[in-house]
Amino acid sequence: MMINARKLFNGVTDLPAIPVIVSKVIALLDKQDSDPNTIADLILSDQVLAARVIRIVNSPLYRTKGEIVSVKRALLFIGFNKIREMILTSYFVEGFNKQAQSFDMRLFWTHSFSVGAISRHIAQQIRYSDIEKAYLVGILHDIGKVFLVHYRKEEYGKMLNGIKNTSFTTVEAEASYFGTTHCEIGHCLAQCWNFPPSYSDVISHHHHVEKATEDVLLTAIVALADFYCLSHYTADSIAQASVPAESEEHSWNILKHFASDKLSSSLEHFLTDLDEEYEAISIVVDSLFSTFTEK
Ligand SMILES: [Fe+2]
Ligand SMILES: [Fe+2]
Repeated sequence: MMINARKLFNGVTDLPAIPVIVSKVIALLDKQDSDPNTIADLILSDQVLAARVIRIVNSPLYRTKGEIVSVKRALLFIGFNKIREMILTSYFVEGFNKQAQSFDMRLFWTHSFSVGAISRHIAQQIRYSDIEKAYLVGILHDIGKVFLVHYRKEEYGKMLNGIKNTSFTTVEAEASYFGTTHCEIGHCLAQCWNFPPSYSDVISHHHHVEKATEDVLLTAIVALADFYCLSHYTADSIAQASVPAESEEHSWNILKHFASDKLSSSLEHFLTDLDEEYEAISIVVDSLFSTFTEK
């Protein structure tokens, strides 16, 4: 199936580019010991990126007292991890936003941001080492769907209609319609944009957590967040709710293995407990989306 993913991927010539500068900033921010000045200088070398950082740090989302006008202050104010998150997400929202008319981008991104926020919550709960990374990779996990919707719009629409009210999952349908899945396509995108290996791992294996190799715990976190969010979006045309399957059970066992003392007694309870978070998260997600898409 990976051969089909590559064929599809290589046939595309107008892929929204993630600017080289963004890849560099992400790579630097991923290292624990990066120097803030180097990162600020790199951001400053791209005026569009610098302006974007300033605009977002001054948005209602961060409630700054008084305007922040320098990138270095913005970095100090919201921290490296948040900067990493805002740069990547704003590029993705914008890069694909204009293009796929027949596809409800707002619903798609609501799902993505919600999975990010729930992933962050789970990461906090089990004391995972990089909470913001869980958030970011949660946002990006379904990026392959955006590619399929954009470049195979009609077929993807037909496929989605074809599986409405059936027990087929999106991944199963993709495999039979396209001979590949949004996970494999997402893997190609992650490689093309030089994402760190743990990001590709989550993007590739969030529906088959048993195949994860780089950061098994992170993949399990995002897989459970995804499952939870899918079961809360009946209106999302590109997502389907289902009962926990093997992959979710596997993810749950992984979480238990790493942090059994911090978790509820069963997967069912664990998912129900997330309801408390969910309402608050929906409000934040709405405001985040507006911040990234405002003109
Ligand atoms: Fe997915
Ligand atoms: Fe998803």
